[in-house]
Amino acid sequence: PMTDPDDDKRMAAGAAVREVRDGMLVGLGTGSTAAHAIHAIAAAGLRIETVATSAASAALARSLGIVVRDFADVVRVDLTIDGADEVDDTCRAIKGAGGAMVREKIVAAASDRMIVIADGSKRVAVIGAAAIPVEVLPFGAAFVSQELTALFASVVPRDGGHYRTDNGGMVFDCRQAVTREWPALAATIASIPGVLGHGLFLTEIDAAYIAAGGTVTRLER
Ligand code: A5P
Repeated sequence: PMTDPDDDKRMAAGAAVREVRDGMLVGLGTGSTAAHAIHAIAAAGLRIETVATSAASAALARSLGIVVRDFADVVRVDLTIDGADEVDDTCRAIKGAGGAMVREKIVAAASDRMIVIADGSKRVAVIGAAAIPVEVLPFGAAFVSQELTALFASVVPRDGGHYRTDNGGMVFDCRQAVTREWPALAATIASIPGVLGHGLFLTEIDAAYIAAGGTVTRLER
């Protein structure tokens, strides 16, 4: 049966939020699917504290009465629930269409468990069709862009170079990588001076809840 993708996003979010227990410190993701999780957490009346991966998610959570702590003071998170742009069956993902991938990856790395939630349109056999967003210190824009051009056939500055993340960084959306050896590509991108981070999540994700046509599939790494 046909369902609204938004219903699937809500269903995936609800399934993940059932893992949240009172007393946890929970990482809040960014984007429309993560927003469903934030609403579900508020509706469940859980006694938890949270950290947010973006100013937008922090504001949404606080508006719903959820306690949001400053992540700068946090070393460990119990559980993070976040969206993705693409996810495969081994829990490799591309994230960052919403521009929050650098904070998302820090919070994911600090998390005992990291769950991706998505509707079925995000599930792929192999990642790599979605743009890989790379956040760049504006000072290094031209240099980093040139370096990325050696790794991707298409390197496009988001909003013509005007886009800024919560960190003040620019984003280059990169497509058609010269290699599908993702760990090597990720390491090469991260090694370019001026790169603040990128949207390849190869090791951070422990599980994915993917809802399609009203059915939730759980993938564990
Ligand atoms: C935010 O930076 C991204 O990583 C999001 O997780 C991703 O873009 C998913 O957003 P939607 O849930 O709105 O598709």
